[in-house]
Amino acid sequence: MAENPKEGAIKVGDFQSVVADDLKGFSRHFKEAVRVEHGLLNLVLRYFLRQKGKRIRPLLVLLTAKTCGGIQERSYRAAALVELLHTATLVHDDVVDESEKRRGAFSINALWGNKVAVLLGDYFLSRGLLLALEHDDYDLLRVLSNAVKRMSEGELRQVQRARSMDVDEQSYYKIISDKTASLLSACTRCGALSADADEESLKAMGEYGEQLGLAFQIRDDLFDFGAQEVGKPVGADFQKKLVTLPLIHALEAAAPPERKRIMKIIRRGRKSKEHQQIIYEFVESTGGLAYAQKRMEDHVQSAQSLLEVFPDSEARRAMHALSHYVVVRKK
Ligand code: IPE
Ligand code: IPE
Ligand code: MG
Ligand code: MG
Repeated sequence: MAENPKEGAIKVGDFQSVVADDLKGFSRHFKEAVRVEHGLLNLVLRYFLRQKGKRIRPLLVLLTAKTCGGIQERSYRAAALVELLHTATLVHDDVVDESEKRRGAFSINALWGNKVAVLLGDYFLSRGLLLALEHDDYDLLRVLSNAVKRMSEGELRQVQRARSMDVDEQSYYKIISDKTASLLSACTRCGALSADADEESLKAMGEYGEQLGLAFQIRDDLFDFGAQEVGKPVGADFQKKLVTLPLIHALEAAAPPERKRIMKIIRRGRKSKEHQQIIYEFVESTGGLAYAQKRMEDHVQSAQSLLEVFPDSEARRAMHALSHYVVVRKK
C-alpha cells in the first residue's frame, strides 16, 4: 500500500501532548483499579499490563471532554473504565480467535490457557463496572454497558458469519460497527457526558466516534493483508474464514470462475503461506486494498467534518489529527 512517508510520521505523541497531564489522572485510576494481592491473578495481570497498547480510547475520552468544555475528575474515571473494558475484550478476543500473540508478546491464552484468559477478561470487566458504580457514574455506565452488549453481539455475529461463509458488505459493516465502533463511540459520548456537554455536542461526538471506529477496524483488517510487524499475527482473518472488506470487494469485482476458485480456498480453511500469497495477490490485483483504503479515508473525513460544530481549540485540532492517525498508523 502506498503511503505518504511524511504523513506516516505522525505519532500518538503528537496529539497526546494536549492532554499529557490529564493522562496521569487516567493512569492513577487505572492502576488503582487493577491493584490485586492474589497470587496467580496478580502474576497474569502484571504480565498483560507490561505491554501497554496505544491507549487510543482513554485519549479519545479526554480529548472529547476537553473539546466539549473541560476535563473533570469524572473524565479520568471514564478513561480508566473504557481502557479496562477494552483490555477485557482483547483478552477474550484472543481466546475466540485462538490467537497466540498480542501487543508483541504471547497472549494470555497462549501462556496460561483459555480458562485463565476468560477469567482475567471477566476480572477486567468487573473492575471497570465497579469503578463506575463506586462513584455513581450511572450515565457513563449506561453508555458503556450498551457498548459491551453490542461488542458481544458483534463478535457472536462474526462467528456465525464465518460459519455461513457470508461475504456480504452490509453484514461486515454491521459487525465492525458493533464490535469496534460501538466502544469508540462510547468513548466520545462518555467524554462529552463527563464534560456536561449539551445534546447536540453529545450527538456529534458520538457520531465522530462511530466514524472513527469504522475507519479503525478497516485499518486493522488491512493490517491482516500486510507483511509488516504489528505485534499480532497477520493473515489470520481469512484462515478463520473471516472475510473482511478488502476481500469482500475483490470477490465482488472478480469474474465468476476466479471468485469460485478463491471461495474454495477460503471454505477449505487453507492456512499455508502459498494460499495466503494467492489471496493477497488476488485482493491486491482486484483493487480490494485500494477500495478498503478509500472507504477508510471516507470515514475519517466524515469524522473530521463532525468536529466543525465545535469552536476551534487545541483539543479539537488534536481530535482532527487523531482521526488522521487512525489511517496512517503503523500498528
Ligand atoms: C485492537 O485495538 C482491537 C481492535 C478494535 C482492532 P487497539 O489496536 O486499540 O489495541 P491496543 O490497545 O493498542 O493494543
Ligand atoms: C477486533 O477484531 C476485536 C475487538 C473488538 C476486541 P479483531 O479480532 O480483528 O482484533 P485483533 O486483530 O485481534 O486485535
Ligand atoms: Mg482477534
Ligand atoms: Mg484484526
